[in-house]
Amino acid sequence: MSSAATNITPLNITSIREDFPILHQKVHGKPLIYFDNAATSQKPQLVIDRINQYYTKENSNIHRGTYYLSELASNAYEGARDAIQKQFNAEKREEIIFVRGATEGINLVASSWGRKNLKAGDDVLITGMEHHANIVPWQQICIEKGAKLKVLPVDDNGQIHIDEFESMISEHTKFISVVHVSNGIGSINPVKEMIAIAHKHNIPVLVDGCQAVPHRKIDVQDLDADFYTFSGHKVFGPTGTGILYGKEKFLEDMPPYQMGGDMIKFVSFEHTTFNSLPYKFEAGTPHISGGIGLATAFEYVDSIGRENIEAYENELLHYADEKFNEVDGIRILGNTKNKIPVFSFVVEGTHPFDIGTMLDFEGVAIRTGNHCTQPLMERFGVSASCRASLAFYNTKEEVDNFIIALNKVIKMLK
Ligand code: ALA
Repeated sequence: MSSAATNITPLNITSIREDFPILHQKVHGKPLIYFDNAATSQKPQLVIDRINQYYTKENSNIHRGTYYLSELASNAYEGARDAIQKQFNAEKREEIIFVRGATEGINLVASSWGRKNLKAGDDVLITGMEHHANIVPWQQICIEKGAKLKVLPVDDNGQIHIDEFESMISEHTKFISVVHVSNGIGSINPVKEMIAIAHKHNIPVLVDGCQAVPHRKIDVQDLDADFYTFSGHKVFGPTGTGILYGKEKFLEDMPPYQMGGDMIKFVSFEHTTFNSLPYKFEAGTPHISGGIGLATAFEYVDSIGRENIEAYENELLHYADEKFNEVDGIRILGNTKNKIPVFSFVVEGTHPFDIGTMLDFEGVAIRTGNHCTQPLMERFGVSASCRASLAFYNTKEEVDNFIIALNKVIKMLK
């Protein structure tokens, strides 16, 4: 039922959970509680069926055949690009590049834009809460070019500060690459304001949207992002898929990242001319079923409603937050109110790996380790943490059972 005031429809979780076959199993004899959604999310039947249909009825190589199947597959793949363009409100379909995931999207920009435009004495600015995929590509291109990687600090609550951000920008700053939502601690960054400030100084900005896209509707024109990238598997789509959005004016000016079939117009042994956008950046046979499956994942999410998901997840966030506060000896890393339901925590006198392993025997899947964010863990004075990350198919009852299991495990370990 819709509430007239807010237009929010409460989710029918029982019916939603029916859409995710993997959730209905026991692990070590206990009902599975899947709380590792920041690492990868589960796939609805609609996506599984669409991929099945592709391999059962449509499989063939795209952009190459003149026959029925190839046309079917090409249309489905290019149709997926159109749907994703619409999903992100990109101005042009040419601005949507299929990649293997955000890691490839960032590597593409760092290698192509970075190698062409960075020089000795330049700075690239990132934040202290980036995951390795948004640190290492920039660090390495900076080393290659004699440029400097600068890092915006994260405070004790797990937030960055916009005034500090602005004060770190100088005439040397040539590029800014910033995470939209932290995978390690869940904080949501004010990327729209950051982009507006960067643009006052004519600095292009890449936004790593890996953890934002599963939780929020993204409008790249509203953000005015120059580049926006994410991984498909975190947004209920297939692994090995993702998107790099880039404004046409940047993509046009950038050299190809990988060479091979489909990214060329003409090849001789002496010379090659490159294909137009988006194909210039899509060398080789792509993950065809994956791209189609990814568009289907967005179709599924839209059928539930982005605002409905956000409202429910906020409810889960606050519920879980209160429950966590009742656990003795627990420390949550990052404590900002503006976050997604991700809880990174350590428990006094215990090791995260022991907690993770023992929770598994209670049917609970969480991630333990550094979450590909070693510098962020170091910022909080730990080498590893436990991380519970929730999605819209999780329930308050699962939170309750998780907390019971956690208390049991802590008692056994102490
Ligand atoms: N970056 C992924 C995570 O946060 C793998 O777990």
